[in-house]
Amino acid sequence: MNPLNELRRRFLRALNGLADRPEEQLDLVRRSQDARFGDYQANMAMPLAKALRRPPREVAQAIIDRLELSDICEPPEIAGPGFINLRLRNDWLAAQLRQAANNDRLGVAPVEQPRTYIVDFSAPNVAKPLHVGHIRSTVIGDAINRTLRFVGHQVISDNHVGDWGTQFGILLYGWRHFLDHEAFRRNPVLELIRVYRLVHQLLERQSQTETKDAANVVARDESEFPETDEPADASLPPGEPASADRAPGAEQPIDSDGAGGAAAQLAAGPAELEDLSRAHPNINAAVLAETAKLHHGDPENRRIWQEIIDVCRGLIGHVYQRLGVEFDVTLGESFYEPMLPEVVANLVARGIAQESHGALCVFVEGIETPMIVRKQDGAFLYATTDLATIVYRMNRWRPDVILYVVDHRQSLHFRQLFAVARLLGYDQVDLRHISFGTVLGEDGRPFKTRSGALLGLERLLDEAVAQAARIVAENDDAKPGGPELSPEQRAQIAEAVGIAAIKYADLSQNRTSDYVFSFEKMLAMTGNTATYMQYAYARVRSIFAKGGVDPQSLRSSPPPLLLDTAAERALALELVRFGESLDLMLADFRPNQLTAYLYDLANCYSAFFESCPVLRAENDRLRLSRLLLCDLTARTLQKGLELLGINVLERM
Ligand code: ARG
Repeated sequence: MNPLNELRRRFLRALNGLADRPEEQLDLVRRSQDARFGDYQANMAMPLAKALRRPPREVAQAIIDRLELSDICEPPEIAGPGFINLRLRNDWLAAQLRQAANNDRLGVAPVEQPRTYIVDFSAPNVAKPLHVGHIRSTVIGDAINRTLRFVGHQVISDNHVGDWGTQFGILLYGWRHFLDHEAFRRNPVLELIRVYRLVHQLLERQSQTETKDAANVVARDESEFPETDEPADASLPPGEPASADRAPGAEQPIDSDGAGGAAAQLAAGPAELEDLSRAHPNINAAVLAETAKLHHGDPENRRIWQEIIDVCRGLIGHVYQRLGVEFDVTLGESFYEPMLPEVVANLVARGIAQESHGALCVFVEGIETPMIVRKQDGAFLYATTDLATIVYRMNRWRPDVILYVVDHRQSLHFRQLFAVARLLGYDQVDLRHISFGTVLGEDGRPFKTRSGALLGLERLLDEAVAQAARIVAENDDAKPGGPELSPEQRAQIAEAVGIAAIKYADLSQNRTSDYVFSFEKMLAMTGNTATYMQYAYARVRSIFAKGGVDPQSLRSSPPPLLLDTAAERALALELVRFGESLDLMLADFRPNQLTAYLYDLANCYSAFFESCPVLRAENDRLRLSRLLLCDLTARTLQKGLELLGINVLERM
């Protein structure tokens, strides 16, 4: 059920023979901004009139004469210079909704041409805990993944975790020299953070006293990603050697997560640092050597690496579980390591890559900076792995589309990557960077905790849940008949409300803009928030409990729908538009299209509920008709929120 598509199909037929390229006119069939001009509007008569050298109103009439719409619409009207106003027939709306009632897809037909999509999202660098910056990729990617599946595409969700970067050199060095095995057993994450931070501090010290040579090394490494204007939140000192093959725009390592406070206390003080610094004079080179050893297959480093990865994966897995996010595959960067030499050899053999200053580069037309696929020292890079990943994905799944849900700061990387993929002959697959903006604090700067460290995602979730718990308790206490929820129920509801708030706040923003993170706003009971939507859902559901009505009977044999009042009709119209909102979202992979639709739906429902008594309707026919509208509203809200990865609650 998608009225806009249906109207466009009819216009296509009518325009055949009138317009040269009728399909190009179809964008001009749109939803009306103002109900006075009907439900939809078609505005192609004006541009067509120019081409045909005929008066626009005459062209509009000619289109109407050829339109076969009488089963869907009231007779179309011409307004102003030649707008065609369309109003759906009430009996058509009612018939659509009665069909939807008896259908677990709510009448949304599966796509006619299913395609295979790979959605590459979340993809944190696992030597570090997840932080607020990972919310966006995870939440936006998951919503896209769920919606594509629902409309009938074949989808593979792949978490391309960063498990091979140079930050492991730091951890390996720290592990070998500073790890307190007892502390690691007690709290592996905290101990990893401590040693990471310690090594990091030593590197920092050394780079401050380092010769110009090392400074040059770093400067050159950084220039590989010149588009990466490190945000203000990047606390990496300029001398951090690990920056060489970090993903462009990637966040800083393990030391600056939510446990940063604890780690900071544990890290060495100035005197101790002084001593350690003397004891580890060439730590910069040593760290690089540890990474190189790992990359060359040193069994001991491999074993330690595995142990570290296991800890990190467990930690991240727990967050995914709370977020309700699952992946079909988690193929990290390390998975592609064995394939890199062949990819590079192929680039060389086909004359695509060339040597430049000792590094192997691909120059792409129209992009000034080359993509480096092998450094002077022989090391491969983030970009090399991404090329191998494309080769692997094409062989294994033959996707039609690969979506990369990644920070906007990596846009140059993806432009280069996609161009090189085309040079390699992958020109059929649609490669797309679904980029997004930065999460800002209420001061308008990249989101941080007061201590200046990025807040760990797990702690962020805890904080949202704690704030939600207060709201849930207040609302429950304020119930007319006294509180209804047990402490366990309250806790469960708070978890769902808190997590939903974080997700929805992100999804309801235009993904390409930065957005301001505010617990207060995201948990507000009114406005376009998850909390409002969840309450709206629970309120609709409560009608059935109150009236002792089993919605199942309304679904299996839907009663006639009476749409005589403006509010009932407006709600019905909104309900039939569900499929339309999904198409709108997927047209440019913007979940805020779906949140906006759901918010409109909830508002239409409120207006309906205020003016139309449901359980106390004048007669049985009206009562059943309104109950069906209620049930469809609840189901549409539930399905829409589910596609956004948000759970509803039957009671709140
Ligand atoms: N690990 C990278 C980062 O944190 C993101 C990877 C995105 N996916 C990809 N195929 N490059 O910046």
